[in-house]
Amino acid sequence: MTEKMALIVGATGLVGKELITILLNQKEYKKVTALVRKPLGFTHPKLEEKIIDFDQLDEFVIPFRVDDVFSCLGTTIKKAKSQETMYKIDVTYSLAIAKLTKKVGAKQFLFISSPYANSKSSVFYTRMKGKLEEEVRKIDFDSISIFRPSLLLGKRQEFRLGEKMAEGVFSALSFLFIGPVKKFKGIQGKTVANAMFKAAQMNQGGVTIYSSDQIEELGKGV
Ligand SMILES: NC(=O)c1ccc[n+]([C@@H]2O[C@H](COP(=O)([O-])OP(=O)(O)OC[C@H]3O[C@@H](n4cnc5c(N)ncnc54)[C@H](OP(=O)(O)O)[C@@H]3O)[C@@H](O)[C@H]2O)c1
Repeated sequence: MTEKMALIVGATGLVGKELITILLNQKEYKKVTALVRKPLGFTHPKLEEKIIDFDQLDEFVIPFRVDDVFSCLGTTIKKAKSQETMYKIDVTYSLAIAKLTKKVGAKQFLFISSPYANSKSSVFYTRMKGKLEEEVRKIDFDSISIFRPSLLLGKRQEFRLGEKMAEGVFSALSFLFIGPVKKFKGIQGKTVANAMFKAAQMNQGGVTIYSSDQIEELGKGV
């Protein structure tokens, strides 16, 4: 019988929603804790939902053991309205979760970054994701899995014009994304979620970076 405990942040998002469904419905986890700022809107016998203020994460204490941590947190510049707020959500919150869970024995940390993440990048978004990768790597987890998906596809509650337009272009030209440019093809949120679940079961040890085409391959089926 499994005794593994999972913790997820970002469970209300495109990838997170898919991932929490997998975590709850697969037998690998005994309990799944979701840290959220608003209710998930459903219950499940294995689910523990904790509504928290992410600005107070430093004072938050996790009163139980956690094994595998999944972070699908993130925002857009349109929603965040400033680079400072975006950085706080993507980097500061994610790092606080990593540190908090490490304290209660977490062995694995799996999170979503972006293609070209690089802390020295001149582009704010890839620099921010690079900084997140760099800082998480400093924490002594047994295993760190970094997912760098291309454009995320799937049904969103809000309308994102830029992403919708890109999705249309990607679908129309999908036949072009073969061979070395396969990694630029859009990817379903559900595929990313599947890949995160599977990577956690593989528990490779050390740091593994998954490019979008590797996520596509790993994320087939559950
Ligand atoms: N969009 C793309 O094409 C793309 C490509 C590559 C990588 N990524 C990255 O992939 C990750 C997942 O993307 P996604 O599209 O699944 O994300 P999403 O649908 O925008 O969901 C983001 C999640 O983060 C949470 N969140 C946002 N602001 C928060 C705040 N202030 N406090 C607490 N929680 C907050 C959201 O909670 P609420 O529901 O409460 O807002 C939601 O659960 C992100 O890190 C993103 O940067 C995206």
